[in-house]
Amino acid sequence: MRTKVALSEVLLETLNRLDGDGILLVAGDPPNPMTIGWSTIGHIWNKDVMNVLVRPVRYTFQFMESEEDFSVCVLPDRYRKELNLCGTRSGRDINKLEVCNLHVEKCSNVNSFFISESTIHFECRIVHKHFLDPATLDPAIIKRYYPQKDYHMVYYGEIVGIFRN
Ligand SMILES: Cc1cc2nc3c(=O)[nH]c(=O)nc-3n(C[C@H](O)[C@H](O)[C@H](O)COP(=O)(O)O)c2cc1C
Repeated sequence: MRTKVALSEVLLETLNRLDGDGILLVAGDPPNPMTIGWSTIGHIWNKDVMNVLVRPVRYTFQFMESEEDFSVCVLPDRYRKELNLCGTRSGRDINKLEVCNLHVEKCSNVNSFFISESTIHFECRIVHKHFLDPATLDPAIIKRYYPQKDYHMVYYGEIVGIFRN
């Protein structure tokens, strides 16, 4: 049974996961999970907002472009192997949900799905997006992270629901 919670209740745990094995960005129908480690969570336009960064080469990118929303799911510690697989294999080649034996359910407030095995999930509606702009990006970051010039698209997801079990 999942309970709706406030951002303050799950923020630290989520940030710690981002900095560890990652969390799952889930988009598309059928849904495809992709591990992410880069995100910001904060408050803009009087809304709680979660930014996720997706390189255009990812299979996930096309779903982020065609759908209006996404979910972000925090998995328990024991899912390290699955997080690694979802961060190293593409949904173009395999059905990651099947291979990892993960299950999905419909979100309450958006069209996307969330991972049933997650302990926390965020439901987000895309309210803005833009590619990182190399003209204003620190050259040291460009050198280290974008040698191929495949700049991330930054999606701004209004957090319309946070749930935990
Ligand atoms: C820990 C970890 C964090 C990652 N974070 C991101 C991220 O924030 N943005 C991104 O575009 N790719 C990130 N990746 C890479 C994607 O998860 C990976 O390329 C994945 O296979 C893409 O899946 P897809 O092609 O099914 O979308 C990360 C990978 C790992 C292992």
